[in-house]
Amino acid sequence: MSRRTPSVIGVLGFVSIVTLAGTGGCGDNQPTMLLDRVALMDPATCQTCHPQQFQDWSGSMHAYASEDPVFLAMNQRAQRETNGSLGAFCVNCHAPVALSEGLTTDGLNLRDLAPSVKGVTCYFCHSASAVAGTHNNPLTLTDTGTLFGPFRDPVAGTPHRSSYAPLFDFVRAESAAACGSCHDIVNQHGAAVERTFAEWQASLFSDTKVGLTCVRCHMTQSQGPASTTSTGKIRSLGSHALPGVDVALTDFPEVDAQTKQIQDLLDNTLSGTLCLSDDLKIEVSLDNVAAGHSVPSGATPDRRLWAEVTAYSADPVTGERVVYQSGVVPADQTIDVVRDPDLWLVRDCLFDDNQMPVNMFWDAAKVTDNLIPGPVKATITDPSSFTRSHLKYVYPPSGTLAARPDRITMKVLVKPIGDDVLADLVASGDLAAEIAARVPRFVLGQTILEWTPTTGKHPVDAQTRAPVPGLSCMTTAAQYLTLPDVAVSHARCAP
Ligand code: HEC
Ligand code: HEC
Ligand code: HEC
Ligand code: HEC
Ligand code: HEC
Repeated sequence: MSRRTPSVIGVLGFVSIVTLAGTGGCGDNQPTMLLDRVALMDPATCQTCHPQQFQDWSGSMHAYASEDPVFLAMNQRAQRETNGSLGAFCVNCHAPVALSEGLTTDGLNLRDLAPSVKGVTCYFCHSASAVAGTHNNPLTLTDTGTLFGPFRDPVAGTPHRSSYAPLFDFVRAESAAACGSCHDIVNQHGAAVERTFAEWQASLFSDTKVGLTCVRCHMTQSQGPASTTSTGKIRSLGSHALPGVDVALTDFPEVDAQTKQIQDLLDNTLSGTLCLSDDLKIEVSLDNVAAGHSVPSGATPDRRLWAEVTAYSADPVTGERVVYQSGVVPADQTIDVVRDPDLWLVRDCLFDDNQMPVNMFWDAAKVTDNLIPGPVKATITDPSSFTRSHLKYVYPPSGTLAARPDRITMKVLVKPIGDDVLADLVASGDLAAEIAARVPRFVLGQTILEWTPTTGKHPVDAQTRAPVPGLSCMTTAAQYLTLPDVAVSHARCAP
């Protein structure tokens, strides 16, 4: 049985409609029957009239937030290891309705609760009337039963009160504050363990003139009626699927659609450039060309993103031999155990009070990172502003390649939850090994490159537009302009 079929509560709530609202608040003289509070809370109620929004949402990580087995495992472990002092910290964002309804205090009973109160639901977002902070979900909900949305002129006769609010208007910065305040986490030690909103605020996209809000990028628009009961009114509708990098690891709706959307999003996120210098070094550059924040973002304590580079030389016996490689993971290994001092691994590093590395983000007192930032507003007085989202790595970091390569390949991979984190959860008995094994790994399409002496081209000087000698490059960008380099250190995880 699908998890999101109408629950008993929802159906009862829907038929036992209690309020007869004379004008329904919509200037309509038809008596409109208003859904009661219980019905409003159940996404299955909304499905009747908003089937597309429901379908998209039903496969989203918002719908999955209280089901996610990695979440359940981490919360269980965090509660145990803090002797319960963590309290409602996690469910405040992962099960906000269950918490506000008093159905859970620590999330340890989430498996017993009705689907309607789990996850980030329709009711939770659309009842939000104010944002009173920048992190840890400071949203306040109205108790008037009004659902807020993007329309200033909702059609008459809706079964719920509707009202425009800037929190749902993608041209308004308030909408980013609404998403962002749940997408930044400061843990109980004061460490900023998720920083998507802060990253967005530091980026070009928060600029009120040229900016783009979270909704603008993430809720792909299509045209159509907003409700099956308002077919006469065509609207611009935002997709509620909201793909990122996480995918459901258990039986859940829309997994194939989500996986495809994640791949499409990631394929366009980073563009890659692969060069060989005359002095036999490989240069790999990555540009964050599509994200309004760092890449990766969000749950960066768990994310692992890395570059795989292999150089080959012609060999009289075997045809070709590997002369250099980094980031290559043998089939029976994982990236965290590969012995590879040259590895370009993008991640957060977490430390406790004694500067000792930790794996679990609630244990962190300090976070360092080498994420690929989003673009910032370019200012003449700050040359680094032109290149902040352009990072370069040089292989090998010291010395040169053993032989001149005839072919070099590269690609960038991302694993939403690192194998080291997963192994730690399996070892503590909180996560089944078989679930951990389902966490996928994505390859970012615009970073798949193959260089050969014949396909490689000189890059072009960004200022003079003259070819730059000494370097031969392949790029997925239209042209590779040499930019002042932001070279990345090979040192990892230093406190
Ligand atoms: C009986 C049909 C029906 C049901 C059930 C229903 N809605 Fe609506 N809803 C409508 C109609 C009609 C509109 C107005 C569409 C328009 O103006 O284009 C609407 C508009 C909205 C809007 C936009 C409001 C605005 O001002 O921007 C939101 C948000 C919304 N509904 C959420 C929900 C949620 C959440 C549920 C479930 C609790 C739900 N609806 C249940 C019919 C329904
Ligand atoms: C994470 C917060 C969030 C959740 C959860 C959510 N919505 Fe929305 N919803 C929004 C935002 C933001 C918009 C404005 C989108 C836009 O303008 O592109 C919106 C727009 C809408 C609209 C107006 C038409 C449209 O599609 O843009 C309707 C109707 C709606 N949502 C219904 C629902 C229903 C039904 C659910 C649950 C099945 C739901 N929403 C879950 C944030 C949310
Ligand atoms: C109640 C807090 C809350 C609000 C408000 C909220 N989110 Fe989320 N969001 C979450 C949680 C929790 C998850 C992850 C659940 C999981 O993976 O277990 C999530 C997941 C996501 C993901 C998927 C990330 C991934 O890696 O797969 C995207 C994209 C996203 N949210 C965007 C938005 C946008 C855009 C808005 C505003 C319209 C928004 N969120 C509002 C809590 C929230
Ligand atoms: C300019 C477009 C753009 C804007 C603006 C934007 N995003 Fe994103 N976002 C992306 C792209 C592209 C990705 C996929 C790459 C990635 O994972 O970082 C993404 C990924 C994400 C993810 C998953 C990240 C991960 O690696 O786990 C979350 C969560 C998210 N965005 C939330 C937000 C929130 C919240 C805001 C507003 C504060 C926002 N985004 C603004 C384009 C954008
Ligand atoms: C301020 C809101 C907030 C709080 C508090 C919060 N989360 Fe999340 N969580 C999110 C958001 C937003 C995402 C999605 C970010 C992304 O996908 O990049 C997420 C994603 C996750 C994920 C899936 C992604 C991954 O890679 O791990 C897990 C598991 C998770 N959280 C566990 C927890 C646990 C355990 C706690 C408590 C110790 C917690 N969260 C507290 C908002 C929150």
